[in-house]
Amino acid sequence: MKAPIRSFLFVPGDSEKKLAKVADSAADAIILDLEDAVSEARKPAARQMVSEFIADRDRTARTPQLWVRMNPLGGEHALADLATVVSAGPAGIVIPKIDGPADVLRVHNYLEVLETAHGLDAGSIRLLPVATETPVAPFRLGEFAAAQLGRLYGLTWGAEDLSAALGASGNTGPGGEWTTTYQLVRSLTLMAARAAQVEAVETLYVDIRDGAGLAESSRRARAEGFSGRIAIHPAQVDIINAAFTPSADEVEFAKRVVDVFAEGAGAVALDGKMLDLPHLKQAERVLALAGMLEL
Ligand code: COA
Ligand code: MG
Repeated sequence: MKAPIRSFLFVPGDSEKKLAKVADSAADAIILDLEDAVSEARKPAARQMVSEFIADRDRTARTPQLWVRMNPLGGEHALADLATVVSAGPAGIVIPKIDGPADVLRVHNYLEVLETAHGLDAGSIRLLPVATETPVAPFRLGEFAAAQLGRLYGLTWGAEDLSAALGASGNTGPGGEWTTTYQLVRSLTLMAARAAQVEAVETLYVDIRDGAGLAESSRRARAEGFSGRIAIHPAQVDIINAAFTPSADEVEFAKRVVDVFAEGAGAVALDGKMLDLPHLKQAERVLALAGMLEL
């Protein structure tokens, strides 16, 4: 099994200067954006630039996976985006503003045709929908588990477009915490992803100068079950990678937990606390992740 993607760095698809920084990035994946970071007038140019950028990638070096955020289905750009970029063989497509699994199935169907047309392995391009950007989308999160979408890499969520769709003038409280609506959709995304047995990807942290805040909120996201996070600035990548990598202490503790259960009991005491099967499962998960990350 491959380790989950810890960091997905967004790069505007029409910025030559920012694209030039991608090769050196420590991000596990890059999302070349064709949607909100690109102005209407620049859409066609961005699509072309992104396609060429992916086609010209260095296939020998250890470089980030290259993903593309397409424009929303039903708009005038979505099909042109897919028709242009798929031939270059991106690792995956981020689908914004979906209403539910039916939209993801639609993109899956387009990809089946395009992969065949371009001689790519069937099913090789993965999908990451942003599953909370329209008012109806949160109600359909639970349907991903039954939808059995083989290309689905994970689910992520977004607050800004949902706020705009709801007519909200803000989405955080006085201390910067998400207000109830956004806490709700965040938790539902996490549970929907795990119910569908795919990755849960935390949304971006908008304050690009607040590294400490990003680190703290990313550690909390991992503790809750998210496996990675969106980045919007290169300075966020190392912080996110670190937060989604088990610490040496965590690995050490997980080993002790596994060792103490190896003695055969179903419930044990360790450091004065009761541990039972869920704790063993969590410890095994930490060790599996450490193994995949070659720690
Ligand atoms: N990818 C690659 N390079 C980036 C980058 C990104 N996402 N964000 C910033 N950089 C580069 C800048 O070009 C700059 O390069 P330089 O030192 O050669 O001038 C350097 O990193 C430092 O950038 P900084 O000045 O701190 O930020 P900025 O004011 O240039 O840009 C943003 C701020 C938010 C506009 C920029 O980070 C950005 O474009 N982020 C992604 C936006 C996006 O894709 N949004 C859609 C998803 S929500
Ligand atoms: Mg958006």
